[in-house]
Amino acid sequence: MMKIILNNQVDIPVVGFGTFRSKGKDAYEATSHALKAGYRHIDTAAVYDNEKDVGAAIRESGIPREELFITSKLHNRDQGYLSTKRAFKRSLSELGLDYLDLYLIHWPKSYEASADSYQALEELYEEGFIRAIGVSNFTFHHLEHLFETAVVTPHVNQIECHIFLQQTKLHEFCMKHGIHIEAYAPLMSHHVKELLENETMAGLAKKHGKTVAQVALRYLIERDIIVLPKSITPDRISENIALFDFSLDDEDMRTIRGLNRGRKLFPEADNFDY
Ligand SMILES: NC(=O)c1ccc[n+]([C@@H]2O[C@H](COP(=O)([O-])OP(=O)(O)OC[C@H]3O[C@@H](n4cnc5c(N)ncnc54)[C@H](OP(=O)(O)O)[C@@H]3O)[C@@H](O)[C@H]2O)c1
Repeated sequence: MMKIILNNQVDIPVVGFGTFRSKGKDAYEATSHALKAGYRHIDTAAVYDNEKDVGAAIRESGIPREELFITSKLHNRDQGYLSTKRAFKRSLSELGLDYLDLYLIHWPKSYEASADSYQALEELYEEGFIRAIGVSNFTFHHLEHLFETAVVTPHVNQIECHIFLQQTKLHEFCMKHGIHIEAYAPLMSHHVKELLENETMAGLAKKHGKTVAQVALRYLIERDIIVLPKSITPDRISENIALFDFSLDDEDMRTIRGLNRGRKLFPEADNFDY
């Protein structure tokens, strides 16, 4: 599996397994299948209410812990300095792990709340409980305010990103600051049909003998973006990691770049009270 090196030299598998909207048996079975299929990077969050199931699949896989990259995220109700520390320990305990590879502030709240939560993340990072820290759903102004108080530059910003919302400017801004982008909803989430039915993408899939989903994921990887496809369907779980036996040429990249249309599927952090 191809890896990206974060700005603290920690490496992260470029494909992570998404677990949003899968719970209980679905989350356990999907994660178990993903690990058997070769995923070594799993993305969960306290708010997904599946850390216990995902954690059980991880522990029962028998894969050595150091070969895995596990991410969780702070629930917004837990933002604040002490509450972040408590929430992090709760996530660790639900997952049955003794450290995380990446822990993120899931959504920005007030600048002050984000700064306090982030300070807690920095301390947990310095204490060795987390190998990399970051944020999610942060746009330019959230990051600029965080920079005023942060000691450790976030290693990652996890944002909605897919072929119809390519996040070119935010990606450029983050890379300039050494922050890697993780693409959530890389297959357009609950609007996946819109992606699968796109004729341009179907043409490219045919050209490469791959599926539309694979071309959409490969496009992001070509841009050095980490992708987090989610599926509870075994064949699709395997399909979404079979991305390394082809590549897109300059013309393919230009064609897909042309599909960008600012199509936001999840609420803007500034207009939604999480
Ligand atoms: N930080 C955040 O705020 C945030 C927000 C959203 C998501 N995320 C993270 O990002 C991950 C991915 O986002 P997402 O789950 O919203 O959406 P996604 O991965 O873009 O799309 C998932 C949907 O696509 C379907 N699918 C998956 N692979 C497919 C394939 N090869 N062919 C056809 N359909 C396919 C899945 O169906 P089946 O499951 O039925 O197979 C599911 O309906 C999440 O799971 C989560 O870990 C983070």
